[in-house]
Amino acid sequence: MVKLDVSTKQVTDQKTSCYGFLVPEGFAASTFQSIEKKFDINITHYLKKEDFKARVCQTFALSAIKDNILFHIIVIGLGKKEKKGIPIESLRRALGCMYKKVASFKEKTCAVAIPAASLFNVDAQQLGQQTATILNMAAYRFQDFFSDKEKKETKIGTIFLCLEPKDRVGFVRGVQDGEIIAQAVNKARHWVNLPPSDLTPTELADKARSIAKKTGLKLTVFTEKQINEKGMGGLAAVGRGSENDCQFVMLEYKAPKKNAPTIAFVGKGITFDSGGLNIKLGQHMETMKEDMSGAAAVIAAMEALAYLKPKVNVIGVTPLAENLPSGRSVKPGDIVRFYNGKTAEIKNTDAEGRLVLADALSYVAKHYKPDVIIDIATLTGACQYALGPFFTGMMSQHDDLACVVQECAHRSGDHVWRLPLTNDYIPANKSDVADISNIGSQKYMAGATTAALFLKNFVGDIPWVHLDIAGTAFNVPDLPYYQPGATGVGVRLLIEFAMNYK
Ligand code: BES
Ligand code: MN
Ligand code: ZN
Repeated sequence: MVKLDVSTKQVTDQKTSCYGFLVPEGFAASTFQSIEKKFDINITHYLKKEDFKARVCQTFALSAIKDNILFHIIVIGLGKKEKKGIPIESLRRALGCMYKKVASFKEKTCAVAIPAASLFNVDAQQLGQQTATILNMAAYRFQDFFSDKEKKETKIGTIFLCLEPKDRVGFVRGVQDGEIIAQAVNKARHWVNLPPSDLTPTELADKARSIAKKTGLKLTVFTEKQINEKGMGGLAAVGRGSENDCQFVMLEYKAPKKNAPTIAFVGKGITFDSGGLNIKLGQHMETMKEDMSGAAAVIAAMEALAYLKPKVNVIGVTPLAENLPSGRSVKPGDIVRFYNGKTAEIKNTDAEGRLVLADALSYVAKHYKPDVIIDIATLTGACQYALGPFFTGMMSQHDDLACVVQECAHRSGDHVWRLPLTNDYIPANKSDVADISNIGSQKYMAGATTAALFLKNFVGDIPWVHLDIAGTAFNVPDLPYYQPGATGVGVRLLIEFAMNYK
């Protein structure tokens, strides 16, 4: 984590030799008054000369020596003001670029002038929360497995955030939340990035166990044997081909108030998806350690919620398994029976996510009757093709709930785009030998939607939103606050949803 030191002093009064400015298009020249005076240079002149327009992430950097000390001045664009001010996503990107630029100078400290919250049409607390979240996300690296120290990037130690005095109190409160959120995002990223043989279902269950111990969240773990005994036939079938036991893990947060509403998060936890007997081609298998990104998001979000203490009860459920081919694997043609009694014909062993989720959804629906269920899963290549890396697919038949999730997505930075989930597509999942088939018929296409409709069989009447993160969980290009590898997508959104649920 980066140390964030919040003050109302000017950047020029901070103990550092690296100075950052975030400026909107059409910024005032007076922005640079104090730094120009301090170093006796005319920055405005050079910005003009370089045709600096302050587009989002446009960067101007100057390094020079004064009194034998090397100093850097970094100016980064925030882009255009829209009707409602500068979009907060522009700030996220600009802060990501700022972090990268400072790190590239190998500087250990930097002072950044933070514009007023009003510029972004948010309150100071939100500004502080977003700033702390994104700077710490930008600082995350997965470098546990580099043996060469040179290859490891050294982190920025302290960033001085220099504020408008009126924003200070709210901002500081927001920073505390943002640090908790970022820690959860980065933890989820780390679990996803771990090699699949290092993070098996039991290993991930152990992570949840230690979180429960540390936070007091209630933990329930079912072993493979218990999963079979309880009749969770989907999870058992998927886990059967692997030497490593499958697991069913639940974390529960209790709201301080009695009779608070209950929300449930369900995350797909396939720690490696080879496709099973319908084995994937090499190119598609390469990143399939990412297939537990939903579970990682749920477990990490649960830890953050234990600290942030929302007013609602929250249940985090994760069915964990490896999908591997072997002499014991589930076969095409097999029929499985889920926890709620429904049956499915396995036509393709690579459509395993919906099988493990079916049991998890049935289990929470039956035993907790939550007011809302949100599931999050790297479920379909179809969703990845439809939306690409910048939007998670959101499907729901509950418009009000979908709107709330959409707003949380916007505020948190985990963006979603809604895809259809009408009953028109139900016949796609027809089976001649069981209640439903685990893949949609080619005739209907719409693979993300037919997968979601499969899941609908297991939530009953409970208002439910499905999030397909196949495109957004891993290797998202171009966004400066991410790195190659896991994104931790969903952690921010689930936290935002729980904290604002009414
Ligand atoms: N885990 C994959 C989906 C996926 C694809 C996640 C790309 C992340 C990136 C899922 O289990 C899968 O294999 N889905 C199949 C379903 C098909 C067999 C109906 C797919 O999308 O091809
Ligand atoms: Mn699969
Ligand atoms: Zn999968």
